[in-house]
Amino acid sequence: MRKAIIAGNWKMNKTPAEAAALVNELKPLVKDAICDVVVCVPATNFQAVKEAAEGSNIKLGAENVHWAASGAFTGELSADMLKACGVEYVVIGHSERRQYFGETDATVNKRVQAAVNAGLKVILCVGELKEEREAGYTDALVEYQTLIALTGLTNEQVEEVVIAYEPVWAIGTGLTATDEQANETIGVIRKALARKYGQELADKVRIQYGGSMNPKNVKGLMAQPEIDGGLIGGASLKAADFSLVVNYDK
Ligand code: PGA
Repeated sequence: MRKAIIAGNWKMNKTPAEAAALVNELKPLVKDAICDVVVCVPATNFQAVKEAAEGSNIKLGAENVHWAASGAFTGELSADMLKACGVEYVVIGHSERRQYFGETDATVNKRVQAAVNAGLKVILCVGELKEEREAGYTDALVEYQTLIALTGLTNEQVEEVVIAYEPVWAIGTGLTATDEQANETIGVIRKALARKYGQELADKVRIQYGGSMNPKNVKGLMAQPEIDGGLIGGASLKAADFSLVVNYDK
């Protein structure tokens, strides 16, 4: 019912030449994917990736966006700037932005609103810290993070948002949530959406898992009924690995 979406999150990696080489290698490997394929890349690589991905099924994404249309925000990029570079998707609220760059639920919400209103497709990241899981707060936390981030959107806009459930303790650590843990927490997010927006809408929202997802664990995770794709960090930096994740059904 929901089309899966596998997105790479390159983080702060790759020069434009390396980016073009990776996309060129990736193109033939993912051309028959049954899911949406996205690469979210540093802004310095937009042009190179757009050119290399031309005519393929690989979509261009950014890793962040500012909420203002323009102005005195040194180092930031607006939604219209991203769109003008051919960007379709944007990751918002990644845990690294929350941990290292002072991102809060309130600023995540402002970024989500600006991105959606400009016509970008949002990949909204939520997820708990290890201590929060151990203390039993995971469900309350992911519900809160999700609903506050979507505040101010119309139901039609909420339906188009992709949510990435990424337990922070599983990111870049080699630790993955078990298939069941990931499925259960994504189910909690979907129930929260159903309570606020109705079951019909909640059933349409695509919710990815992220956190050390790789060619070895992708099949098990994707076999879970609630999991609609993945946000892939480390394993998205090599064409061979990323294509195996994208081709999880083969
Ligand atoms: P990882 O990163 O796959 O390297 O754990 C995932 C992410 O941060 O989105």
